[in-house]
Amino acid sequence: MITIRPIKNTDFPQITQIEFESFSDPYPLHLFQYLAHIEPALFLVAVEDKALLGYIIGETEHRFESLVGHLLSLAVRQDKRRKGIGHQLIEALIEILKNQGCRELVLEVRVSNYSAKGFYQKQGFREIRRSSKYYDDGEDALIMELNLEERL
Ligand SMILES: CC(C)(COP(=O)(O)OP(=O)(O)OC[C@H]1O[C@@H](n2cnc3c(N)ncnc32)[C@H](O)[C@@H]1OP(=O)(O)O)[C@@H](O)C(=O)NCCC(=O)NCCS
Repeated sequence: MITIRPIKNTDFPQITQIEFESFSDPYPLHLFQYLAHIEPALFLVAVEDKALLGYIIGETEHRFESLVGHLLSLAVRQDKRRKGIGHQLIEALIEILKNQGCRELVLEVRVSNYSAKGFYQKQGFREIRRSSKYYDDGEDALIMELNLEERL
């Protein structure tokens, strides 16, 4: 059975392994450690037995009068994709963000990352704009948004 739970210190080796197989510009270990330290409740992992299958990292930001959730990173182990794990991770994060009073969840995704874009659209995210040269290598990002108040 797959369980979604907050990160533990022993998870970092498996997280960095998934990160390096998933991204051309992976987050370094110290960034994961920093993010786990500042908002541990918003850094979730999916585990089955002792195997870590994926992770999601969120943060909250004050935007004008409201609190907004920001999705910093999400990845599922390559051989475990298309089994609903990404969906379980994002649902768990959304529940926590809603309980914290967030009305929206926003994210950036590379314009070339069609699979992630397809995944986010399936979760109900809308594309709201394109941010030019957002990434260090010059690629644009799509900014996507999910209205949490419209979700039951
Ligand atoms: C994006 C990612 C996290 C999705 O995780 P996942 O566990 O495979 O997703 P799920 O199985 O929960 O998918 C749910 C639905 O999203 C959509 N979806 C998922 N992957 C998709 C893809 N490659 N292409 C199109 N739609 C996709 C489908 O509608 C899917 O439902 P279905 O399998 O019944 O058709 C995973 O592909 C991944 O780790 N990618 C590499 C890292 C990455 O790009 N992260 C996002 C950075 S912004």
